[in-house]
Amino acid sequence: MFCLTTETDPEWAERAVEQLDRVLVDHAHCEMKAASSALALAGRAVIAPSIVRPLVALAQEELAHFDEVLAELERRGLELGPPPVDDYAAELLGHVKGPRSGRERMVDRLLAGALIEARSCERFKLLAEALGQRGLHEQAAFYRELLTSEARHYTLLRRLAVEVSGDDASVDARMLELASLEGAINARHGTAAAIHG
Ligand SMILES: [Fe+2]
Ligand SMILES: [Fe+2]
Repeated sequence: MFCLTTETDPEWAERAVEQLDRVLVDHAHCEMKAASSALALAGRAVIAPSIVRPLVALAQEELAHFDEVLAELERRGLELGPPPVDDYAAELLGHVKGPRSGRERMVDRLLAGALIEARSCERFKLLAEALGQRGLHEQAAFYRELLTSEARHYTLLRRLAVEVSGDDASVDARMLELASLEGAINARHGTAAAIHG
């Protein structure tokens, strides 16, 4: 899917459905982190002011997703609780390079964000299929709708990286490197009932 270099083990979705409450709590935190990361990027986009508004719009959409998942938690009587550790995202963001506030770092952060969106899209698809197979059609529809947003966010963040860089070929080359690193990280995960677990 997209530029992902490894596939998530379908057994992950079985575990996720069995522990859907846990996944939903983790998912809520993921949406919140996606919103705050888009805002953080917007606040540092001095080198490319044209990407500020698209990032603010993205943050608003992620915030709306956060609100939707929070509503689902409330319906189930679940509490948000503290943010779970997300080793997957931390490891991937650890590969972002370049000096602070520089163009190279902004491109890397946008591409890492695009990869996280692509992976979420892949996982939501697996989850929607597994939920549907168990007759949980409402929850399946919820994840099907969200996966289309994640696909759009992948495309948006990749496009913004090209806008910041001004060089399609170097963005493509860097995306290949980061996608390969992301694939290796994903291969070590997929065992826990969490969006990137
Ligand atoms: Fe989202
Ligand atoms: Fe997203």
